[in-house]
Amino acid sequence: MHGPRPNSHLKEDIRDYWSRRSETFDLAFGHRIPEGPEFDAWAAAIRERLGPEPRRVLELACGTGEVTRLLLSLGHEVTALDFSEAMLAVARKKHAGARGLRFLLADAENPMEPDESYDAIVCRHLVWTLTTPATAFAEWHRMLKSGGLLLFFDGDWAAPTRLGRLASRAIAMLDKVVGTDPHYDGAMSERHASIMERLPFGDGLTVERVLPLLEAAGFRDMTVGSHAPIAKAQRRTADLRNRLRTLLYRRFILCCRRAPAPPSA
Ligand SMILES: C[S@@+](CC[C@H](N)C(=O)[O-])C[C@H]1O[C@@H](n2cnc3c(N)ncnc32)[C@H](O)[C@@H]1O
Repeated sequence: MHGPRPNSHLKEDIRDYWSRRSETFDLAFGHRIPEGPEFDAWAAAIRERLGPEPRRVLELACGTGEVTRLLLSLGHEVTALDFSEAMLAVARKKHAGARGLRFLLADAENPMEPDESYDAIVCRHLVWTLTTPATAFAEWHRMLKSGGLLLFFDGDWAAPTRLGRLASRAIAMLDKVVGTDPHYDGAMSERHASIMERLPFGDGLTVERVLPLLEAAGFRDMTVGSHAPIAKAQRRTADLRNRLRTLLYRRFILCCRRAPAPPSA
């Protein structure tokens, strides 16, 4: 029987999609974080928000361990979680022997870590693919210590911006002239599209949509930062097609906090 798969299979489809991409994930632009200006820009964005002190960090959806590398370089103690064995295998190999690092095979929407056990939760490119965002945010809030930080990097991948539409046309022209890039996300676009249409944020993850959900989960002190310094750093070393890719989507950096516990009477 053909036709769209029911929603109960959504999470398995997401896991399978990423597992199949694990071997080539780092080859697609925007995933691997090369040493140099791009690494420095990501590190600055994290340091600015988490502060200079070493923290106990839960990294959700670590994938191949690129953000993990940043967190370790900043001196944090990291639990790096993903629900894809294949992704974790790549990350484990990359960080073999690293100190202050623990890997965890678990669902980011229900990690089952103890209450109030982390100073910070960090993730890149996970929130758009949550199947039950409100429940996940409540779980993340529960695992943070009082005053703990949630920091995530994400974007609205459903539709390019106006400038992005122009960039997209230019990329299509380049694809015709020099051939397509087999590693870019679009290479599995049918499967990607079938997942997107079943996701709560499949029609767009925006700050306006996510803020009320975070607030309802108990988060406070929301700040929204710009991805522009990172994109600018990427353009310093990327080729023309990838420079154009930095213009496609509206991206943002969101940081908020579990409210400090009121002083006991
Ligand atoms: C776009 S990749 C991002 C990987 C990494 N955060 C990075 O930025 O390089 C998405 C990752 O999220 C993981 N993922 C998606 N949903 C998840 C969930 N519910 N629980 C755990 N991992 C999840 C996938 O297995 C994949 O490794």
